[in-house]
Amino acid sequence: MAKRIIAVICAGLLWCMQVTAQENNIYTITNYGAIGDGKTDNARAIQKAIDACNTAGGGRVVVPAGHTFLTGPFDLRSFVELYIETNARLLANPDERVYTKSAFRDNKGEGTIWIGGENLVNVTIDGNGIIDGNGISFMGAELEDSYVLKPFTVVDPRPHLLTIVGGKNIRIRDLTIRNSAYWTLHLIGCDDVAITGITLLNNLKVRNSDGIDLDHSKNVRITNCYIESGDDCICLKNRREYEEFGVCENITVSNCTMTSRSCAVKIGSENMDSIRHVVFNNCVITKSNRGIGIQNRDEGTVTDVIFSNMVVDSHLFSDVWWGKSEPIYVTAYRRAKANNKDASWRFPKGATEGKVGKVSNIFFSNIKCRSENGVYVSAEAMDKITGIHFDNIDLQLNKTTNSMGGVYDRRPCMVEGIVKAPTSGFYFDTADSLNINNCSVVWGNSRPNYFAYVLESNRVPVLVIKNLEGQSAFPGKLPAIK
Ligand SMILES: *[C@@H]1O[C@H](CO)[C@@H](O)[C@H](O)[C@H]1NC(C)=O
Ligand SMILES: *[C@@H]1O[C@H](CO)[C@@H](O)[C@H](O)[C@H]1NC(C)=O
Ligand SMILES: *[C@@H]1O[C@H](CO)[C@@H](O)[C@H](O)[C@H]1NC(C)=O
Ligand SMILES: *[C@@H]1O[C@H](CO)[C@@H](O)[C@H](O)[C@H]1NC(C)=O
Ligand SMILES: *[C@@H]1O[C@H](CO)[C@@H](O)[C@H](O)[C@H]1NC(C)=O
Repeated sequence: MAKRIIAVICAGLLWCMQVTAQENNIYTITNYGAIGDGKTDNARAIQKAIDACNTAGGGRVVVPAGHTFLTGPFDLRSFVELYIETNARLLANPDERVYTKSAFRDNKGEGTIWIGGENLVNVTIDGNGIIDGNGISFMGAELEDSYVLKPFTVVDPRPHLLTIVGGKNIRIRDLTIRNSAYWTLHLIGCDDVAITGITLLNNLKVRNSDGIDLDHSKNVRITNCYIESGDDCICLKNRREYEEFGVCENITVSNCTMTSRSCAVKIGSENMDSIRHVVFNNCVITKSNRGIGIQNRDEGTVTDVIFSNMVVDSHLFSDVWWGKSEPIYVTAYRRAKANNKDASWRFPKGATEGKVGKVSNIFFSNIKCRSENGVYVSAEAMDKITGIHFDNIDLQLNKTTNSMGGVYDRRPCMVEGIVKAPTSGFYFDTADSLNINNCSVVWGNSRPNYFAYVLESNRVPVLVIKNLEGQSAFPGKLPAIK
């Protein structure tokens, strides 16, 4: 009898606690059946907590401290703050079969969605805890600087960590986000986004593991983040699968430190609309392949972009990765035709060949670079790249790895992908209206015979140089400028 009374009192208390918590708009996932043993799949429990929170008009969904909650895919809803407490972890289920929704709609070959959400308003993810994509469990054999990708037939099951399709007022802050198997934070058609104070740690050998992808998004601020990712750290683009969301514009990135096996700060390659009004400021790029890259490969344009106050340290890696240690890279080439993996979803509907849009009005200012290669500007026609300004760019070129140099990388494109050419501080090939002000080039002690000029320029009708300091790599043999 006494036991029963106690049981009833306890049940009552628990109920009261739950109701009280909900009255405070707190929805703790363990109250919805989640078990933090690191083994049980909690997707249903987490979804229940999120749905209850959303239905009640919004609040905080808590992932409580001290536990790892394994989970398959679930969706965020409007007015929900997903709060992952310090020392709590959400871990992606390693079972490929639970990932069924494509990250790119009918294009099923480029990964699936783990944490998703569509048409979201007022969503926050925070709390100082960890979101872990369990990426290595989706990889094949480990090679020297990458993992082999497992073969697949139609659906590539590797989950993207977060995919939001359509969003307004999205906040992501103060979290560790790590080990994604594919892109990490993919924001499509989002307006008014702030990402701040996150530590994003992907395995540097995982291909396609981009850090932050802003796709057709607007009015985005990224600040005070630390990002390490195999593929691009921060990438702006316009994918064809999400065409209806329009331009990518008004983006600022500041105070970030980044490392990538591909390109730390990148615009492109997919761009079927406009990318404009973008500022990257106060960033440090270390141990990367490329530093800053504009890689336009579709009919969209890139205009009015500033990169300023940066330190870039870049090196050569194997051909698995796009990039040949170019500290600054601006290229415009149409991509390869059909029968290439790159082709089927990239061209306008019905077309078997693409076009490339213009890149113009781009400013690089106060950037200190140490690299194995030079600044590369190159397009398929002169009018595709115009109005590029280099102000106070200081370069030091030095051979620091055993990887093959004396090459520039134009992939993915119609013509030859990796082209041989002497390594110069600045190498310009087919562009117009380029400006150099107060720049310098020095060479390190480690100088292979393909190290060459301060500047080589071919097919650039207007090139204005004001104060470019430096000698060629072999001053007795080569002139400074070719
Ligand atoms: C979203 O949050 C903002 C304040 O951050 C508020 O002004 C706005 O009304 C909210 N939107 C909706 C649809 O509730
Ligand atoms: C981008 O900013 C400009 C200038 O403030 C503004 O006119 C424009 O509406 C913004 N674009 C979007 C899509 O909000
Ligand atoms: C960047 O860091 C500087 C120095 O710590 C700080 O003054 C500035 O407010 C930061 N900027 C942003 C956008 O957080
Ligand atoms: C180049 O540097 C000199 C000396 O620091 C300065 O006076 C001049 O304004 C600079 N020019 C440009 C175009 O930045
Ligand atoms: C250049 O690289 C070589 C070989 O890695 C290294 O010894 C040297 O310190 C580097 N820096 C300079 C300025 O030469």
